[in-house]
Amino acid sequence: MELIDGKKIAAAIKVEIAAEVKRMMDKGARPPHLAAILVGEDPASETYVRNKSRSCKEVGFDSSTYKFPADVPEKEILDTVGFINEDPDIDGLIVQLPLPAHIDNQKVIEAIRPEKDVDGFHPVNVGRTTIGLSSYVSATPYGILELLMRSGIETSGKNCVILGRSNIVGKPMSILMMRNEEPGNSTVTVCHSKTRNLAEITSAADILIVAIGRPGFVTADMVREGAVVIDVGIHRVEAPETKSGFRLVGDVQFEEVSAKASHITPVPGGVGPMTIVSLLMNTLKACKKEIYG
Ligand code: GUN
Repeated sequence: MELIDGKKIAAAIKVEIAAEVKRMMDKGARPPHLAAILVGEDPASETYVRNKSRSCKEVGFDSSTYKFPADVPEKEILDTVGFINEDPDIDGLIVQLPLPAHIDNQKVIEAIRPEKDVDGFHPVNVGRTTIGLSSYVSATPYGILELLMRSGIETSGKNCVILGRSNIVGKPMSILMMRNEEPGNSTVTVCHSKTRNLAEITSAADILIVAIGRPGFVTADMVREGAVVIDVGIHRVEAPETKSGFRLVGDVQFEEVSAKASHITPVPGGVGPMTIVSLLMNTLKACKKEIYG
């Protein structure tokens, strides 16, 4: 079994991005600039935005965070998006989700100019990805593609089974794995809560991508000998034996599944570290106008 070390791969990509930023700035360009809108005080969202700012700094990007109280009117968020859309010194914008219930998430996402939508959530980017045009691919699927590619995993002609059909992971992942490009060219099956004979289907997977949001859901009997297993889940479970009182686990029973897999991502340290790096790669593309010219 070979561990797919997301932490190491993410660190290597950050070095590449930093080198590219230096090359651009040596030629007189300004650094790439990523903006984030953060509403309310959800601790997970605050952590994510803080990590994003720190990562920007590490690779030489500028970053700014627009913070609002939880009761901010929707119009103020839409106005801020509009203002950032027009700012030529900001390349990419993410609006940290979820937003409070009185704000329409979809309306806000659709207010972002597709050219600055480095989260890849705008329907224009989703549609472009679907028909094979250049696009911003959202962070988790993009990170998984990089993990597969940089681990030398052949995807062409392989059976790829995806557990989960969310708009931000399962659905785009299925499109990317079936596209006529590398990584891609897989025969894709998407499973979800209504799927029957789940273990039978997952057992036929050469590549199994699990984004089902249930701790330890995938057990060894569901996995074929020699499969590549990508675990997107991340859950805090109680662990009285540890100092913190909890530990992080994925959607996959790591111990037993790693005994059968040819390659597997650990949790933590697999898919997780790749997501912010994907956002940085998209922001660099935005700055260089690689997607929309
Ligand atoms: N909330 C959880 N994940 C994400 C993400 O990738 N982007 C944004 N904007 N919000 C999130």
